[in-house]
Amino acid sequence: MKQRRDDFPTLLQEHAPAYLDNACVTLKPQTVIDAITEYYTQHPGCGGRSVHRYGTKVSRMVASARQTLSTFIGAHDPKEVVFTRNATHSINQIAHGMSWSPGDVVLTTDREHNSNLVPWLQLEQEQGIDHRVVPSHENNTFDMEAFEAACAEANGRLKMVAMSHVGNLDGVTLPIKDIAKVAHDHGALVAVDGAQSTPHMNVDVQDLGIDFLSFSIHKMCGPSGMGGLWGRYELLDQLRTIQSGGQTVSSSTYTDAMWAPPPGRFEGGLGNFSGMIATGAAIEYLAQLDMDAVHEHEVKLNRIMTAGVKDLPGVEIIGPKDPAGRGGICSLLMHSVPAHDAALLLDEAAGVMVRSGQHCVHSWFENKGYTEGSLRASAYFYNTEEEVKLFADTLDEIVHTMG
Ligand SMILES: Cc1ncc(COP(=O)(O)O)c(C=O)c1O
Repeated sequence: MKQRRDDFPTLLQEHAPAYLDNACVTLKPQTVIDAITEYYTQHPGCGGRSVHRYGTKVSRMVASARQTLSTFIGAHDPKEVVFTRNATHSINQIAHGMSWSPGDVVLTTDREHNSNLVPWLQLEQEQGIDHRVVPSHENNTFDMEAFEAACAEANGRLKMVAMSHVGNLDGVTLPIKDIAKVAHDHGALVAVDGAQSTPHMNVDVQDLGIDFLSFSIHKMCGPSGMGGLWGRYELLDQLRTIQSGGQTVSSSTYTDAMWAPPPGRFEGGLGNFSGMIATGAAIEYLAQLDMDAVHEHEVKLNRIMTAGVKDLPGVEIIGPKDPAGRGGICSLLMHSVPAHDAALLLDEAAGVMVRSGQHCVHSWFENKGYTEGSLRASAYFYNTEEEVKLFADTLDEIVHTMG
């Protein structure tokens, strides 16, 4: 696929990096940067409330951004799409917006980002829900048998299956459609953490048959501080908001609050309007791409990374051996050179930016005893074969010099 590197000012700089930390945050195209600037320079008003020209312009642009996002993920109605601060906020809105009884079972996998683990742990501590972990296969792929067994063992108490579509630890994709069918057969809801899937592949909430989807706009070429939450309207309509105040009510008296319908109920306080408008620009940008081609390109780059690092001494790939099972993520346990040292040297010596550490999946690393974490390179559509080769070659040199 065409890399469209000219669209990204960061990549046009002299000494532009080989940016391979896309699982954390992606670079921004000029159209997104322009959308932010335009809001602040031309119509920095308040959407949804003020009726003057600035207010009306912002209201229209926010509505249009919501519509674009809604179409991108296959939602039936833009009212099902909530602007949030990030995927963490979205997941918290689901977890703390529902009503729970002690003993209600929530299932996650054993390789969740803290954002899809800690909210459930908090509910366990504070409200007595029963959070259970479904173990993965040895190579981190999803174990359907273990999942079905866990659903059955819940004995009618299964209320929620909350799993990441694609893991940020290893790039492994879960068979969400099959998971949703089994979960629904057991009477549970399905909340998918799509932070690592929506930027990299076609995600259609109807086709997946899920109930909630959380995602990070900043991993989708969009601005920092923006995320999204999609939910089936009737489910959103039953959720309590975790941030009540302005915008969240249709009216109030000294003694009562009349809750506004979704999505306003969940968008309390003055919104990040430039962020919402720039989200529209980011999603319009992604919508022009062929997301299947994006995924294929990332796998192609991962084949190059994998071939270059798989036999390095003291280096072990997390997840399936075949890069096709890991999307654009190449996450490496570093047994001889510490991951942080390697990450620093990759940038210093060759301008290659990757991530090191536990990537907010502490539970998996702690459980396996890999407390140093991993070195993770994560590719996106604008990355080139030369860049990933540079990553592999430089790591080869580092390992052979320091290992
Ligand atoms: C799988 C996964 N879930 C959740 C998150 C949290 O996303 P955010 O930073 O948007 O809250 C991340 C971020 O890296 C992630 O990779």
